[in-house]
This record gives sequence, C-alpha cells and structure tokens, in this order.
Amino acid sequence: MALYANTCKLYVDSFAKGRQVGCRGRTIGEGIVAVKAAASSEVAEFEAGLLERPKWAGETPLSRIVGAVISFKPIYSLLKLGARQVLISTAEKKDIPWREMTREILESDVYKELETVQNSSLVYPDYYLSPFHAYDEGNLSWVAAAEAEPATLSMARRSVPEATSMDEANQILRGNWLKRIQQHSEQHSGGRAIRDILDIGCSVGISTRYLAETFPLAKVTGLDLSPYFLSVAQFKEKKRPPRANPIRWRHANGEETGLPSSSFDLISISLVLHELPCTATVNMMKESFRLLRPGGTLAIIDQAPNSKVLQELSPVLFTLLKSTEPFLDEYYLINLEETVRETGFVNVTSALSDARHRTLTATVPF
Ligand SMILES: C[S@@+](CC[C@H](N)C(=O)[O-])C[C@H]1O[C@@H](n2cnc3c(N)ncnc32)[C@H](O)[C@@H]1O
Repeated sequence: MALYANTCKLYVDSFAKGRQVGCRGRTIGEGIVAVKAAASSEVAEFEAGLLERPKWAGETPLSRIVGAVISFKPIYSLLKLGARQVLISTAEKKDIPWREMTREILESDVYKELETVQNSSLVYPDYYLSPFHAYDEGNLSWVAAAEAEPATLSMARRSVPEATSMDEANQILRGNWLKRIQQHSEQHSGGRAIRDILDIGCSVGISTRYLAETFPLAKVTGLDLSPYFLSVAQFKEKKRPPRANPIRWRHANGEETGLPSSSFDLISISLVLHELPCTATVNMMKESFRLLRPGGTLAIIDQAPNSKVLQELSPVLFTLLKSTEPFLDEYYLINLEETVRETGFVNVTSALSDARHRTLTATVPF
C-alpha cells in the first residue's frame, strides 16, 4: 500500500448561516516528574526560519520527490527499518533505555488493563488503520504502546538538544507548553478556575500526567483511540501513589467523543495533529469547541512549520521522518491558526515554545 499520495489542500469556507470549516481535496491514503515551577513566567523566544514551512513538506517539488521515493514499497520497507534503528540508537545514546523500557512493559501485567479501558463498539476512522511510525498496525499494537514512552522521551531530547538531561529537556518542552496554557487561561477565562480537563490523544498518559500535576484540583480525562496506549497509561497510573482526583481514561475518537457539551475548562491536544489528515483536524477543532465551556481554553502543541530547525533538517532525517508519518504534508498545509479562528475560537495566539514546536492557545467566547 502506498503510504503517500498527493497532498491535500485545506479549504476554509465561512457561510452566512453559521460557520463551516472544512477540508476538500484528495486525502491520503516512570516516571513523569512534575515540571518545577518556573522561575519566570516568560517563555524564552526560539528562532524562526525564513520560510512559511519546510521545503520538504507540503506541495513543493522536493516534497513530491520524497513522497514518490517513499511510496515505492521496497524503499519504504528499508526506510521503515532505518527509521526504527535511528530512533532506538539515538534514544539509547541519550541515556533513554529504549529496549529495557519496552521489555518492562511487554513482560508486565499490562494486558489485563485492556478489558477495562477498551470500548469494543468503537469504529476506528480509516486513517487510523494505516501503517504508522514504522508499525504495520499503526498505534493498534502492544509493541507501539510499549515503545511510546521511550519514543516520546527521545522526541523531547531531540527538541531541546542543548538540554544536558532528560529532565531539563522536559522542563523546557512541557514547562513552556504549560506556562502558555496558564498564562492564556489567566488572561482570557474571566477568572474561572480550571476544574475539568480533557487531554485528546493522550497516548500512554505522559501529557495527561503533566496536566494532572499542574492542575491538581482539576478532574482530568485522557482520551485516545488506541486501547493499547490507554492500557499502558492506566497500568502506569496504578503504579504511582493515588491522586485526590484520579485520572480517567476514555477510549474514543477525539473527532466525536460522545462527551457532554460545555463540560471542560481546558482541552489539550498535545503532539497529535501532525498525525492526522486535515479532515480529522477540522473535526477535532469543532468537537473541542463544543466540549469547552464559555471562557474555556484550547491548547495545542505540535511541530512548528516556521521552526528554523525543522526547515533545516537534513535530507536523510526528513526522508526518514516522512516515511513514518503519512499525514505530515497535510499537517504542514493547514493554516492552523485560521482553522481555529474559523471554528469560532477567539484570542488565538501561537508562538514557538521550543525549537521545534509551537503552542497555540485559544478561547471559547463568552
Ligand atoms: C504522539 S501521540 C500524543 C502524545 C501525548 N499527547 C504527549 O503529549 O505525550 C498521538 C496520539 O494521538 C492519538 N490519536 C490519533 N488520532 C486520534 C483521534 N482521532 N482521537 C483520539 N486520539 C487520537 C494516537 O492514538 C496517539 O496516541
């Protein structure tokens, strides 16, 4: 199966009788520690590149060439292997014991959690059934779930290369994201406390735990499409001391959660959108708008098209990256700020929060 096809264009149309935001075109295809209170409320500035987006993404000739190379099956298989090897060896060089962490999960009792987290009647969207991150079953496997934490830690290390430790890398990546959320909420929520939080695309619960530790008085729900990832999240949570407000895990589609309207003060979508086709992104924005209370905050962190580091990625690295992320071109073509505004959000603010990521925050109007 070709992982890549041509990119799609995002069309945002506003109609007189209410807003419609849409995509049209060809679609393809333990230890989390709390981020210490920052000494300053300022988020450092990070260098932007000269382009709107990297030349290797979107509809450029370079992007098309890379897409064509990747769609050739024998090459894709080699790239898949290569991407895995690069991921594992760079993680282990940075003191992230990838294979040991994976083995620990796979040899544990994590499998028992599946029954309690899985919603057997859930219908997966087609895009979620594609090979992904070099896993043939995408996120729907135990191996992908067991490797999710070392992969996430490794991503944090790559994002903050100047950090001298894992802890420091997380302080910057997660700390800046959380600071932006707190600042936005203080400025725009009309003084409402954050009582209910939804973490869409929570994976194995890393972002969810940061949220729970930053907002200990809030009830936090982690939602994901992978019951394997949620099983790891629940298993890890059971291993730590109980919280006053236990995290709830929900197996659902972030495009259509089935949760009641106006039931959250904060929705986080952390490192999810670059994995989605544009139609799913638009649907997730609409669903978040429905789920947030007036004055509620939407917080998105993801790859920044204007990141200098991403724009200057070497051909080997961007080819490997694209070979494992089938929707990256679509992600880079979306004008996310505009899409969020068109959905009805106000106070849309977006800026680099580390060298590779932007944090976008927005409010549901009163
Ligand atoms: C890279 S992980 C997110 C990591 C995590 N939020 C963090 O910050 O560490 C992306 C997650 O999005 C989930 N996902 C993708 N599409 C989704 C959807 N439509 N609804 C809910 N979760 C989705 C995937 O299963 C995966 O766990």
